Amino acid sequence: MRHLIDPMDLSVEEIDHLLTLAQDIIDNKEKYSEVCKGKKLATLFFEPSTRTRLSFEAAMMELGGNVLGFSSASSSSSTKGESVGDTVKIVSCYANIIAMRHYKEGAPMLASMKSDVPIINAGDGGHNHPTQTLADLLTIKREKGRLNNMTIGFCGDLMFGRTVHSLIKAMSRYEGIKFILISPDELKLPDYIRTEVIEKNNIPYEEISSLEDAIGSLDVLYMTRVQKERFFNEADYIRLKDTYILDKSKLALARPDLSILHPLPRVNEISVEVDDDPRACYFRQALNGKYVRMALIMDLLGLDKDFKA
Ligand code: NCD
Repeated sequence: MRHLIDPMDLSVEEIDHLLTLAQDIIDNKEKYSEVCKGKKLATLFFEPSTRTRLSFEAAMMELGGNVLGFSSASSSSSTKGESVGDTVKIVSCYANIIAMRHYKEGAPMLASMKSDVPIINAGDGGHNHPTQTLADLLTIKREKGRLNNMTIGFCGDLMFGRTVHSLIKAMSRYEGIKFILISPDELKLPDYIRTEVIEKNNIPYEEISSLEDAIGSLDVLYMTRVQKERFFNEADYIRLKDTYILDKSKLALARPDLSILHPLPRVNEISVEVDDDPRACYFRQALNGKYVRMALIMDLLGLDKDFKA
């Protein structure tokens, strides 16, 4: 039995397989409409979510399966003091696969040790978010036609942004990648990712604080919101929240073939005037998330074997 806890749980070949399968699902939706008939997905969300939870549920429904779950810690027995391990042990009696989001780093990993069914990490604290990474990779692949030879700028809260951490890990395995890390000093990428992932793989990178200085050299710009819920002090959040706002005037400095990604939700960091620009990929990215989650559910349930994507 396999789980998906960290993006590095998947080899480059496995990622390639999932992206190919997702593209086949996009092209031939009817072919997949009953693959998960009789199967159930449980979504255990101890932290808020719109896209991730609903796209998991929509993914399972489009595969012909069913869904059950809860969308906040307050409506689960964790308020009565139940441990994550016990919750998962119980839910694995009711469902064939579980997607879990938790505010504590490592909770889905712990859950995977207790579970009798595959666990998918749908975001753990400021740590990882591997299925967002799959959505990001599918988006880059579809928009750019490749996953190698590009300069990717990450802008915003690189300290607490789990989607940033997971995408950097995943992208570090492709050839010809350069990272530009754009953040205020207080929200820089954690040292363990800079040294253990970027420097260890000899990937060229720059750390800078000006989006205007960086934007013209980018193939992909990955914008993020400042992660309010991970701050200890509201005054710090208020001071940092509007550090970067991508608007038309900054976009005028970018290449015509830039792809702008954002895991969403956005707060202020991308002005709505950018939404109509063909370089804005973030709504397409959210849709890609559903298709790649369909591919992942099939894969973890061992149901992709009969589908030659
Ligand atoms: C992200 C998350 O939850 O980490 N959202 C998402 O899953 N699309 C990003 C965020 O909340 O800022």
